Amino acid sequence: MARHLVLTGFMGAGKSSSATRLAKALGRESADADRLIEDRIGMPIPEFFDQHGEAEFRAREEAVVLELLARDAPQVIALGGGALGSKKTRRALKKHLTVYLEVAADDAWARVRKSNRPLARDEEAFRALYAERAPAYEDSADAIVANSGSSAMREALPLLRELLARPAGPRMIWASGKTWGYPSVFEPGVLEAGDLWLARRDAVTVTDEHIAKLYPWLDEGIVIPPGETSKTLEQVERVCSALAEQEFARGRQLAAVGGGVVGDLAGFCAAIYQRGTPFVQVPTSLVAQVDSAYGGKTGVDLPAAKNYAGAYHQPDGVLVDTNALSGLPKAELVSGWAEVIKTALIAGDRLWKKVSGGVDFKQPIDPWIIFECARTKLKVVAADERDQNVRQILNLGHTIGHAIETVAGYGNLRHGEAVSIGMAGALRLSGNDELRAEVIDVCKQAGLPVKAKGIPLDTVLDVIRLDKKRVGESVPFVLVNEPGDVTPGHSIAADDLEAAVKELVR
Ligand SMILES: NC(=O)c1ccc[n+]([C@@H]2O[C@H](COP(=O)([O-])OP(=O)(O)OC[C@H]3O[C@@H](n4cnc5c(N)ncnc54)[C@H](O)[C@@H]3O)[C@@H](O)[C@H]2O)c1
Repeated sequence: MARHLVLTGFMGAGKSSSATRLAKALGRESADADRLIEDRIGMPIPEFFDQHGEAEFRAREEAVVLELLARDAPQVIALGGGALGSKKTRRALKKHLTVYLEVAADDAWARVRKSNRPLARDEEAFRALYAERAPAYEDSADAIVANSGSSAMREALPLLRELLARPAGPRMIWASGKTWGYPSVFEPGVLEAGDLWLARRDAVTVTDEHIAKLYPWLDEGIVIPPGETSKTLEQVERVCSALAEQEFARGRQLAAVGGGVVGDLAGFCAAIYQRGTPFVQVPTSLVAQVDSAYGGKTGVDLPAAKNYAGAYHQPDGVLVDTNALSGLPKAELVSGWAEVIKTALIAGDRLWKKVSGGVDFKQPIDPWIIFECARTKLKVVAADERDQNVRQILNLGHTIGHAIETVAGYGNLRHGEAVSIGMAGALRLSGNDELRAEVIDVCKQAGLPVKAKGIPLDTVLDVIRLDKKRVGESVPFVLVNEPGDVTPGHSIAADDLEAAVKELVR
């Protein structure tokens, strides 16, 4: 049977127009389920709804969609917004490449409010339906094209073509901001197979010694010593000089294969080598897979503070092999959970429910959690690439955390451990003590520390004052009202800050 490319998503996502364009580009026929249903029922859908009701419409819709999906010739098929309500349809979709065109509720409403769609007559009901349907779109998608304007679809096309040509299995998020757009592909097993297919064939890899031991084919590339102590200008010079020695020309691609240290360092080298060369991220640690690989922040530490020299440089793509986590030392996995918990607090909703609802930390992490963390981060970065406003929420727990990490000495406290302690501080400042207790409980269950006993209070407060996010004399803090409601830019009285940090270090 043919593998169709099937477009799903809410009303107003642009499924019908995208199907026509994609079909043309792929040399396939396109089919629009709603148009076919109208042909069969002999009247416009709104009229049928009014005369026969929604249940009768859904039955007709299911029959038409199953028929379309069983067609022999590979097509591009646009489904109606409610089609995934059918279990049979969801099951049948598993054999095809299902692409969710994601549109924000505000944009969807703006696009359809003046139409005659039966389910777009009342804004409140429309938004409730959006929230109800979103999980089915997300869960059945092989690929999610976020912010699905026509330019995102055009840019994503080569990757969709590639996914159609590859065996089923990988999942993809296409995220785009004002000046960039790239795929994050989740495909277990690529590292073991030595198949970095998302990178260019002649890409030069940068990795660290631990990872090179696990995947010996990486020895051919550049290998740095492992750990935070390598995130230095000295290593940047080493990597850039190694590139220059190989006569690596601008425009060739680097592939950063490793944890957050390799990603930040190699990304920074890519940003500055001959004033900028492309790179892909292949994150191998949990921190990197849920957080650092996405969003284009690159850089290194200075003795004065973490990440003090850096640049924004978006990757060409991110290739995530969750199998790599099986080799990750336990303490590093635990450290990654801090970023997971932080991201779940930012996302709220299903991700927070899952993370706070009794994860078995002895089992391998559910790849769904990693995928959802990536989506959350990419959404935030797409809205604000350069930390002007909303992106600052990703620093939840980091202002205090970075200061504690700096004072403890790089390499003595893992990044995630410091973030966990910082989150306990940020939640104290947020004044939601019930949530603070819940977060501390999840952090502890994950094996994370929530205190840094013995670290000198005054030095931590001094480093916080130096934070690179400070504006004038004050450092803005990220506070949490409740899961899913996290906001940046709060100024905190010096006494309150001192009290919150004191509690962490005593
Ligand atoms: N750029 C961003 O947006 C961003 C966001 C969050 C964190 N970060 C940065 O990320 C860094 C922390 O990342 P990290 O925790 O991944 O540190 P890391 O890169 O040092 O990796 C931790 C350890 O795990 C090892 N490792 C990694 N993957 C492995 C695997 N698959 N199997 C076995 N060992 C493996 C590494 O060799 C290292 O010893 C910090 O420097 C932090 O500032 C950056």
